[in-house]
Amino acid sequence: MKPKKIVLAYSGGLDTSIILKWLLEKYQCPVVAFCADIGQEEDWDAVREKGFSTGATEVVIRDLKEEFVKDFVFPALKANAVYEGGYLLGTALARPLIAKEQIRVAQEFGADAVAHGATGKGNDQVRFELTYMALAPELKIIAPWREWEFRGREDLIAFAEKHGIPVPVTKEKPYSIDANLFHTSYEGGILEDPWQEPPEDMFQMTVSPEKAPDKPEYLEVSFEEGVPVAVNGETLSPAKLLALLNEIAGRHGVGRVDMVENRFVGIKSRGVYETPGGTLLHLAHRALEHLTMDREVMHLRDSLIPRFAELIYYGFWYSPEMEAMRAFIDETQKNVSGTVRLKLYKGNAWVVGRKSPKSLYLKELATFEADTLYDQKDAEGFIKLQGLRLKVRALINEKRGGSR
Ligand code: ARG
Repeated sequence: MKPKKIVLAYSGGLDTSIILKWLLEKYQCPVVAFCADIGQEEDWDAVREKGFSTGATEVVIRDLKEEFVKDFVFPALKANAVYEGGYLLGTALARPLIAKEQIRVAQEFGADAVAHGATGKGNDQVRFELTYMALAPELKIIAPWREWEFRGREDLIAFAEKHGIPVPVTKEKPYSIDANLFHTSYEGGILEDPWQEPPEDMFQMTVSPEKAPDKPEYLEVSFEEGVPVAVNGETLSPAKLLALLNEIAGRHGVGRVDMVENRFVGIKSRGVYETPGGTLLHLAHRALEHLTMDREVMHLRDSLIPRFAELIYYGFWYSPEMEAMRAFIDETQKNVSGTVRLKLYKGNAWVVGRKSPKSLYLKELATFEADTLYDQKDAEGFIKLQGLRLKVRALINEKRGGSR
């Protein structure tokens, strides 16, 4: 069905500029270019200019930085979300927010269709479209990468040149970048060989550990109910707090990850990430939980971390199972308030202190000195019963002539 008006998630780059032109040509209807500022370095005046000159009916730029950190990044950190043991989900967290705001723009401008520039082989197409479906099921979805006949980059460049879309003359970076206030991600191109070390000049948020200062730096992060609120005693808004931590961790080379991950569509892909401030928050948050969280609550929650991370990675941010999980996570965080002290040095960061008014740590109980709460004799029966079935098994095995 032919759309009447389309809102395109537009970055100002070559690909989405080509998409913009292609949509105008193919559907012969107005196209609104929507840009989300989630903290990527961008000359927004130039992007606006480029959008209009490529033929956009309207260019809408929304500053979503605070919302991104407050409503997406912090809730993920609160749950200690890590995908496959390494990825803090910086791209996966941005997509549902971009799609949500894009829907709002579609409603404001009376559009009946939304389009995105994600390819047909990645995770992002799923994340965008699941969000569209969850929040605005009536909208038509257009995914040009899955529709057009262009077969490779050459076809795209030829199309751009034919339509006067400026193709950057500077040699294109030999990998693809996705950046926001939480992370920068690199994949594709020369990174497709998983044995090949990334070039040093690729990294944008962190210095290499070799170039980091020879002196360690200390830092304090405070949390309230699992949410970061202050750095070195200074209360900051979510985006400002994360930006400050990015700067500090970045100059010590903290937060680089290089991994091969499983995409939702079934492809293994090599990704390189830098998440400097996020890495500090992740470490500090866990340390505060160690001090304040009940053991069984923690172990139960820990069992859900891979599932929570998977939901984010797969694009199910807006789903009933995510709502249920978030309610549970919030419940676990009621005592996770306090301050953690970190030490940063040459690419590494580690916890060196923690304190909390909600601490469950009793020095009197942990001490090797005599105490009144804990009677060491109680441990004897405790261990005996824990070991009972192990003993029974060993005895039976022995009787049957088997090995222990
Ligand atoms: N692999 C990451 C994910 O699926 C990042 C994808 C986007 N990164 C990029 N450089 N284009 O969430």
